[in-house]
Amino acid sequence: MDLLSVLVLFFLSLLSLLLLKGKKKNGKGFKLPPSPPGLPIIGNLHQIGSLPHHTVAQFSKKYGQVMLFYFGRTPVVFVSTPEMAKEVLKNQDSNMCSRPPLPGPRKISYNFKDISFTPYGEWWREIRKICALELFCPKAVQSYLFVREEEIACMVDSIAKASPAPVDLSEKIASVIDKVICRTAFGKIYNGRDFDDGKLTEAVRDVLVCLNNFSGDDIFPSFGWIINMLTGHTARVDRALHNLDKFFEKAIEDHLDSNRPKPEREDIIDVLLRLQRDQSSRIPITKDHIKGVLKDVFLGSVDSGALSMVWAMTELTRHPRVMKKVQAEIRSHVGSKGKVDESDIQSLHFFKAALKESWRLHPPSPLLFARETMCDCKLDGYDIPNKTRIHVDVFAVQRDPRYWKNPDEYIPERFIDNPIDVNGQSYEYLPFSSGRRICPGITMGLAIVEPIVANLLYGFDWKLPSGMTVEDINMEESFNLSSNKKTPLILVPIPWNAKLVE
Ligand code: HEM
Repeated sequence: MDLLSVLVLFFLSLLSLLLLKGKKKNGKGFKLPPSPPGLPIIGNLHQIGSLPHHTVAQFSKKYGQVMLFYFGRTPVVFVSTPEMAKEVLKNQDSNMCSRPPLPGPRKISYNFKDISFTPYGEWWREIRKICALELFCPKAVQSYLFVREEEIACMVDSIAKASPAPVDLSEKIASVIDKVICRTAFGKIYNGRDFDDGKLTEAVRDVLVCLNNFSGDDIFPSFGWIINMLTGHTARVDRALHNLDKFFEKAIEDHLDSNRPKPEREDIIDVLLRLQRDQSSRIPITKDHIKGVLKDVFLGSVDSGALSMVWAMTELTRHPRVMKKVQAEIRSHVGSKGKVDESDIQSLHFFKAALKESWRLHPPSPLLFARETMCDCKLDGYDIPNKTRIHVDVFAVQRDPRYWKNPDEYIPERFIDNPIDVNGQSYEYLPFSSGRRICPGITMGLAIVEPIVANLLYGFDWKLPSGMTVEDINMEESFNLSSNKKTPLILVPIPWNAKLVE
């Protein structure tokens, strides 16, 4: 937050305090969770820092597994143990699975016409069901296998050509995901001035940065829009959304063009347009609904998928012993056929364990999206009033020393002969969340992440650029609702199999 934002915030908050004095609903009669002492107007905002999942994990050591923070005047509950995660995501899921109707998510979801930010209700239940059946089910994901195979082959080829020069692996990963998801959703790659390689990832990231950045109206609902205008936040959000919307508009327009040849296979827009035409559908599907769902697909795949892969490759590079073991497993299973097929992955137990361990240390959505209570509830003996915002600190949960020995260390072996999986059934391990709001794109997410990483590991040995040691790898994070590696991962690829560079 810059100085101007702080001053504007301060004076407007003071004004609101004077105007609303006497009207404030206090916690009288409620046994509220403990809170770190905050400041009169901004509450705990100054304490939350740039990596809130770390902050919450730290504070929970002193204040306990259920804590109440104040973002300005807005109460926000954080839970940080597997027991409380289970309470929120399972035992009381039906009362805690709505989303707060925040102004930022309202904009990005085309006024709550998506799955991820839309509050609980009939439309959300139906669209989730329809998308689960039509878009996210194994059969639909399997139908885009050829796209993944072709784009992974191109990525491997381009890396082989670059060798032995260092490559920006973060950029390569962003680019292959852009292409895979564009072809899956739009049927083709959009090249051109506005739609070059990696631009889509950039547009998605910009939107996430805006959502995460301080937004006055999230915190001071009645006058926050003034703060947003004065600090330039509104203009930044509008610009980011405009860039993403341009992709969607152009793609939908192309699909509606009567001269477009009938496609051999339906892409995601074809499916959504078919659902829109389907008179038997119980819910209306407008163009904004189509864009809202597209945004979900992009945020899930482009953001969560890309950062999962970058962290996995980073951890493997930091742990050469594990890297060698994973590569040995993949190479001995796949042999000299030249590529890892998706059908190979189920047999690669240590590889899967290495990915799981990376998701444990770096959950893509470390605080999960905000949930909202739908009635007065109780958590750990504390009162949680209706319409309170709740976050589960998955980062803290997945490093709980009562469940994980040496929790900060990268030890994939802990997932061998261990039934814990990514399906949200074990509350100490929640990379895709759990309950009614569990990620509906798990199958698609795995189908993108696993084969890309497996082929990177099969096709190349990875060295650090000259003069660098594993201690020099920058592990800093940046947080924009999701947890990204702050600096790109630059590595030197050495082709393992001579056939790949022919
Ligand atoms: C590695 C990839 C992915 C990871 C790690 C991931 C993880 C997550 C997590 C943690 C949530 C939050 C759930 C909550 O708030 O409790 C979520 C929600 C969601 N994800 Fe994913 N995701 C991935 C890929 C995808 C893909 C590929 C799609 C779509 C094709 C997708 C679509 C969604 C949607 C729509 C939601 C919102 C669910 C709701 O609120 O009902 N995700 N994901």
